[in-house]
Amino acid sequence: MSRPAMSSPIRKAVFPVGGLGTRFLPATKALPKEMLPVVDKPLIQYAAEEAWAAGIEELIFVTGRGKSAIEDHFDNGWELQETLVARGKSELLEDLKSLLRKPGEIVYTRQQEPLGLGHAVWCARHLVGREAFAVLLADDLILAERPCLAQMIEAYAETGGNLVAVEDVPREDTNRYGILDVSNDDGRIAAAKGLVEKPAPEEAPSTLSIIGRYILQPEVFDELDRQEAGAGGEIQLTDAMARTIGRVPFHGLRFEGRRFDCGNKAGFLEANVAFALARDDLAEDMAEILGRYGGRTD
Ligand code: G1P
Repeated sequence: MSRPAMSSPIRKAVFPVGGLGTRFLPATKALPKEMLPVVDKPLIQYAAEEAWAAGIEELIFVTGRGKSAIEDHFDNGWELQETLVARGKSELLEDLKSLLRKPGEIVYTRQQEPLGLGHAVWCARHLVGREAFAVLLADDLILAERPCLAQMIEAYAETGGNLVAVEDVPREDTNRYGILDVSNDDGRIAAAKGLVEKPAPEEAPSTLSIIGRYILQPEVFDELDRQEAGAGGEIQLTDAMARTIGRVPFHGLRFEGRRFDCGNKAGFLEANVAFALARDDLAEDMAEILGRYGGRTD
């Protein structure tokens, strides 16, 4: 994938990929959930390509036990490449090569215990250092003309501070997301005066929910250093961001695009349909298949 001409103010992105993926067992018994393919590409590759398209230079994967397939995926597959050369499969070869970065541009660290998303991000603190950085959750797959993180980096030029991707969810679903307590909203960018992780619908301050894309200031690490558990007994990124409000501006961007929750089966299946319909080589077949099941393809 080619790099954007403009250099990005955000150089590093953290990918928490230590989660167990129990919702997809048995598929995830020996396969990291981030390696589940949507059409023909693993979820983590979509997230990495989104980061590269936004000008990110260094990817930091926070992995865990049983996740080495992710490292192999981004490594030099020279035996396979030689075979593809010998067979004249140049297009496939280019696809594979586009994944390769220079040594040091993809780094790995381990989350040794599953203590929550905030803890996973905290595990990357020394690799990030004291600069603004991005976080991408591969479970949230976004189909967009302009990649979501690139839209955020553009908006970040206006907002500074901490910026997250947001979308409105049905009120009965607020207990699945971090929710903004909105102070000001122009319909595209909302400022927040508070955040709540997974509130019950009747307690949610709004229905504007955090999607797994963040641009964060290093002050978040100072809050995560406290290692305080929040909702569900986990160290929550939402709580750490909430505690910086007042010192660090906090905004949510309603991005353009469709987001699929690939952390659950229905969302994952829908993503496969939507991404196939968006592909020139598959759209026709997919539409025909959906038609057979009485589905709509618009
Ligand atoms: C995490 C965050 C939550 C956010 C969500 C987006 O939750 O804690 O604030 O809204 O990602 O997908 P998880 O889905 O890991 O439970």
